[in-house]
Amino acid sequence: MTNKLQIKSFEEYKEKYALSIENPEKFWGDVAEEFQWIKKWDKVLEWNFQEPKVEWFKGAKLNITENALDRHLETRGNKLAIIWEPNDPKQRFVRYTYRELYEHVCQFANALKEKGIKKGDRVCIYMPMIPELAVAVLACARIGAIHSVVFAGFSSSALADRINDAEAKAVITSDGLNRGAKQIPVKRVVDEALESCASVETVIVYDCLGWGPNMEEGRDYWWHEVVAGQPKSCAPEPMDAEDVLFILYTSGSTGKPKGVVHTCGGYMVGAAYTFQNVYQCDESDVYWCTADVGWITGHTYIVYGPLISGTTSVMFEGIPTYPDPGRFWQIIDKHSVNQFLTAPTAIRSLMAHGEDHVLSYSLDSLKILGSVGEPINDEAWKWYHLHVGKERCPIVDNWWQTETGAIMISGIGNISPMKPTFAGYPLPGVNPVLLDQEGKEIQEADVEGYLCIKSPWPSMLRTTYGDHERCRVTYFSTYDGYYFTGDGAKRDQNGMYRIIGRVDDVINVSGHRFGTAEIENAINTNDNVVESAVVGFPHPVKGQSIYAFVVCEKAPEDEVHARGEIVESVVAEIGKIAIPEKIQFVSGLPKTRSGKIMRRILRKIAEGEVSNLGDTSTLLDPNVVDELIEGKL
Ligand code: WTA
Repeated sequence: MTNKLQIKSFEEYKEKYALSIENPEKFWGDVAEEFQWIKKWDKVLEWNFQEPKVEWFKGAKLNITENALDRHLETRGNKLAIIWEPNDPKQRFVRYTYRELYEHVCQFANALKEKGIKKGDRVCIYMPMIPELAVAVLACARIGAIHSVVFAGFSSSALADRINDAEAKAVITSDGLNRGAKQIPVKRVVDEALESCASVETVIVYDCLGWGPNMEEGRDYWWHEVVAGQPKSCAPEPMDAEDVLFILYTSGSTGKPKGVVHTCGGYMVGAAYTFQNVYQCDESDVYWCTADVGWITGHTYIVYGPLISGTTSVMFEGIPTYPDPGRFWQIIDKHSVNQFLTAPTAIRSLMAHGEDHVLSYSLDSLKILGSVGEPINDEAWKWYHLHVGKERCPIVDNWWQTETGAIMISGIGNISPMKPTFAGYPLPGVNPVLLDQEGKEIQEADVEGYLCIKSPWPSMLRTTYGDHERCRVTYFSTYDGYYFTGDGAKRDQNGMYRIIGRVDDVINVSGHRFGTAEIENAINTNDNVVESAVVGFPHPVKGQSIYAFVVCEKAPEDEVHARGEIVESVVAEIGKIAIPEKIQFVSGLPKTRSGKIMRRILRKIAEGEVSNLGDTSTLLDPNVVDELIEGKL
């Protein structure tokens, strides 16, 4: 891929943006011409947000891996595709050229085929951040199997839910994984999950730690054995533009996590277009995104976006503080990283260790810094800009979601103006609006409202797996004719957007999404728990943290022990990442006469803003509030 898609000035951005809104079919049709298609489309776009039904590049055929791999072989065969940096800096790093990556992907794709996996089958990937994770993702795409990557920190129960919802036929995993000073038994979690997953016929295990895990005869196979002797080429499966590429589970405000569905053509175009513009990589640049491929950021901005664009992408197995809080900066110097993308929570956690760690590295190679996953506060923005970017690197703040597939609102390299804590302007093709309580568009400047998107963009979700109605209700029914993001936002006089945060019952902890209902269900599995209510409250490093109000059948005699049990149930149902920071035992929850929990009040109490609780007159039992406040003090 050439750099033809890159916008080179703010003037050009404005022109392109206007065109993209006026005539989206022309705009995206032109963008799509830059990709490799087996057959071109009959129609660029058909859509309605009522059903909803959105089809991009209808009639076209493609395989996304031809765009990410084959197409580069001639000109970039010997260029590095992936630089893998291990958890332990003393271990050797691994580098794959585009040709090597292509061969590994083809071999593994052939192995999957040999195990009977074919187009349309769902494959669950539960792996550490090793290059084989990217290989597994691309191998699925090569043969048209639908990948569902599950973050390897999720519990066996959460993994089983996701496997069952997708009815996955195979699981790809490893014996264990390295995470800082710890080693985690990944295969054991898979074995536990599979006790309740009837659909899984095959498990492929990458030998990461040499642990010799339990291997079940006829079901479990070693990665190195299944790829041994496989041909190094594999014909790409021709996919319809609207065939499913992957499912990725994410939390919403109700019920269990839902499988967000992305399709081949639109996702490819959106991932590469946004990557090339926001990060403005030159041919020789090295780009690094610190996310995990278990989340959407890793899908779009570690694997697909950079590889389709022919960029060298760094993949890091470890954590920012191991072996010390200078690790990120050491890696940047070691691999001469030019574009660096991380989350505000990582920046804040490193800030807390002081400047010395960052000041001992030169960071001269850096050109552009990115921030993603949650709102970035002023202090973290300034620290990042001063100590990492040395006041010479623009910060691009990328607002988007699992559902949007690609960045929606963000600065563009060093091309568009930046303003601390503002994500900035919508990218071309993105049509955001702010709505008021009544669902009317707010036109004025300097306003706040509910952030919605008015027209479709290529990488948007098409459905939620197995339940289209849930997709309609969650995203398209709150405001008729709009996609509702669940976020509140502010727009300044210049039209720049600042994302304020979720306005629904989704909590963003260290950039990870959790639904309050999901955590409450986990807490309620405890025998002694009658009911619970969970809210988010501000946390200096994590952005938000989880506060649980818990009603027990019998008031716990030993609160420390009872808290321990609740924590255990959350770890078992979801994983350590969802442990509540605070657990308060209460005799009742504030409810309206119709039985609805008043979370607004709980949020205020959790935040410590007890003097300003607003109207509590509609409560069934107003005394409950006094008890809650006392219990907190
Ligand atoms: C939040 C992650 C402010 C937002 C890519 C969104 C952000 C949710 C930003 C999606 C940002 C993400 N500024 N808030 N730059 N990026 N968010 O699906 O609330 O894991 O709705 O996608 O994270 O989280 P998700």
